[in-house]
Amino acid sequence: MRVAVLVSGGGTNLQAILNAVNDGRITNVTICGVISNRPDAFALQRAERAGVPGICVSRKAYATRAEFEEALLGAVDSLKPDLIVLAGFLVIIPPEMIRRYERRIINIHPSLIPSFCGDGFYGLHVHEAVLARGVKVTGATVHYVDEGTDTGPILLQQAVAVQPGDTPEVLQRRVMEQAEWIILPQAIDAIANDRVSRDSNGNYFLTTD
Ligand code: GRF
Repeated sequence: MRVAVLVSGGGTNLQAILNAVNDGRITNVTICGVISNRPDAFALQRAERAGVPGICVSRKAYATRAEFEEALLGAVDSLKPDLIVLAGFLVIIPPEMIRRYERRIINIHPSLIPSFCGDGFYGLHVHEAVLARGVKVTGATVHYVDEGTDTGPILLQQAVAVQPGDTPEVLQRRVMEQAEWIILPQAIDAIANDRVSRDSNGNYFLTTD
C-alpha cells in the first residue's frame, strides 16, 4: 500500500511511521512521499534522511487559495497514494481531495475526540485547553477525514493520564509518546493489512487476526 504523509511541523509522527516501517510494526506499506505546506518543516529533513521524496506546496507561492489547493491536490495525485496520512498537517483539506480520496485519508489528533477538537484546537492549544478544564484523562485519536474539522469516523484512540503540575509542553510530549506515536502506526498497519471492520453500529474497529 502506497502511503503519502502530509506534514507542517517537526514530523515526530512521520518519524514514528518511518520507524515502524523499518522495524516491521508496519508491513505492506511504502511511504511514497511527504508533502509539507511549510518549506522549513523539519519533517522534510526527516523524509530526506529516510530517502523518501519530499514535496513542498507553500500557500505563499500561489496567488489564490484555489491555485494552492489545485497544486496541493496535484502533488498528492502525483504520488499515486492508496492512503493519505495527515500528521500534524495544519491545512484545511480541500473538499475535492476529500471526495477523490474518500475514506482514504486519516488524521491524528492529540485529544480524545469529541473533546478538545475542532477549529482552533491544534498543537499546544489542545493541551492548554485540557489543563484549563482540569480533565484527568486525555489522549489521542486517529480518525478518517471528512469535510469537517476533526469530525470524521473514529478508528483508534489511546488514553493518557494528566499529571498534577503538567505544563502544556510536558503533556504534549506524554500524549505523543504514549498515544500518537503508537496508534498512528497501528492504524496504518491495520489498514494496509485489511484489519479494519465496522460493527452493527457502523463504527470502525481494528480486528486482530
Ligand atoms: C503535534 O501537536 C501533534 O500532537 C499533532 O501535530 C503536531 C505536530 O506533530 N498531531 P509532528 O511532530 O509534526 O508530527
